[in-house]
Amino acid sequence: MTETPLPIVLVVAVALIDVDGRVLIAKRPEGKKLAGLWEFPGGKVEPGERPEAALIRELREELGIEVSESCLAPFVFASHAYDSFHLLMPLYLCRRWDGVVTAREHAGLAWVRPEKLSDYPMPPADEPLVAWLRDLL
Ligand code: C5P
Repeated sequence: MTETPLPIVLVVAVALIDVDGRVLIAKRPEGKKLAGLWEFPGGKVEPGERPEAALIRELREELGIEVSESCLAPFVFASHAYDSFHLLMPLYLCRRWDGVVTAREHAGLAWVRPEKLSDYPMPPADEPLVAWLRDLL
């Protein structure tokens, strides 16, 4: 029997890193899947959209900040097989942006030292990123 492959959902995410080496995470709001869990900001790539353009758009919409593409350093890919789709999520690093980070769509924001990130419950796709960031930063 041949299995039907699950669709792949491409989500981009970013680790914004402040001058003290802390990383921004954002709490998913009520009414969304995985509500209450903490994620690296980002979102779904639209059909035909480049991942970096999607991330810049999502950061503007979600956090009210402007990021230039040259400041986005691709880091690692996370992936997770959910029941109905595969999530593929490249994580970028970013240390420079314009504007004040504001929770426009999330239930809360936290600037967290890499070694403390594991104190925050995250979606399964985001979890492996924590260990990578801890080793890097
Ligand atoms: O953020 P958004 O709801 O648009 O993401 C689409 C889907 O990708 C979510 O419903 C969730 O299942 C998954 N997701 C995830 N981890 C994230 C962001 C999204 O598993 N950090």
